[in-house]
Amino acid sequence: EKAGFDHFMLKEIHEQPKAYRDTMRGRISEDGRSVVLPELKITAEQLKGINRVHIVACGTALHAGLVGKNVIENLVRIPVETDVASEYRYRSPIITPDTLVIVVSQSGETADTLAALREAQRCGARVLAITNVVGSSVAREADDVIITLAGPEIAVASTKAYSSQLIAFFLFGLYWAQTIGSKNESEVAHVLAAMQALPEQVEKVLAQAEVIKGVAESISHHSSLFFIGRGIDYAVAMEGSLKLKEISYIHSEAYAAGELKHGTLALIEEGTPVIALLTQEDVYEKMLSNIKETKARGADVLGIINEGHEVEVAKSVDRQFAIPRTLPLLTPALSVVPLQLLSYYASLALGHDVDKPRNLAKSVTVE
Ligand code: M6R
Repeated sequence: EKAGFDHFMLKEIHEQPKAYRDTMRGRISEDGRSVVLPELKITAEQLKGINRVHIVACGTALHAGLVGKNVIENLVRIPVETDVASEYRYRSPIITPDTLVIVVSQSGETADTLAALREAQRCGARVLAITNVVGSSVAREADDVIITLAGPEIAVASTKAYSSQLIAFFLFGLYWAQTIGSKNESEVAHVLAAMQALPEQVEKVLAQAEVIKGVAESISHHSSLFFIGRGIDYAVAMEGSLKLKEISYIHSEAYAAGELKHGTLALIEEGTPVIALLTQEDVYEKMLSNIKETKARGADVLGIINEGHEVEVAKSVDRQFAIPRTLPLLTPALSVVPLQLLSYYASLALGHDVDKPRNLAKSVTVE
């Protein structure tokens, strides 16, 4: 059942290239120049009338939504807010008829997400669901559904479902952009070509798992660490931190790198592990100076970097892991993989039950 892997989580991490291909299949035109989403009932006219977006979800699905916010704002130039589902319905969200609410849920059965969906519809919003389960409550009740084709996810820690949600956001963002013309055909084609290279690039990342295993064993002796990044890297840092807490029980925090010096830097001491994501070219120099701030206090830094930066970054970090080159917007689909492996191997090194962490359930059907 585990197809030769020791745990479902590791199997599911390795299934990501297939999950990406399956989620993209049939949704890119044959000439590779446009996105086709026949499952959407929302018309081009209706989509043109949408002026704001709320993305609502829990846990890892919310973290996919944080990437989704970056994707939609970048491609469509419409303001997007993200919200924790358990907070959304109790804070009288401002939902107008031109609001599109996007709920994200692997299982499609998360009680808080379902309640947020119902609240949004009650207030007159159209709801689009991104879910992995056909026929789930969320899939049945949403106005539009994009199914991720990650296949069944057994491990409590979500991996391939998260990354397939990213693919769904890329596809939907591009579809929306081509519909309203915020990106022209060649711009869309350019992103689609980069997306189609992702599965093979993930294979390359997976082939370097041993490097991460070594780092994981060393961090497993620590009781606290930090994940830092800027922009879309910060969203990925949050997912990396949750994954590590969830299955290794090591405390960690994700921080927007520029915020460290406003308080948290006080916690960095000799040997504190810091996982720094620096895949975004536009904030690359800023990230390097944030890394230096932590190193000056003794941090032990693992840099998640772009291929080609190895030599340059070597003097600023203690260890590094390079991901293949892709478009800045698409990097989360690659950079999350070493973080998934890091939490897997840390949990393993500590002898925890990787697939069934304490206190947690795969699907949270109570509010
Ligand atoms: O099924 P859902 O995507 O709605 O689940 C949401 C969260 O409970 C889930 O992502 C949780 O955070 C994972 N165990 C994280 O790995």
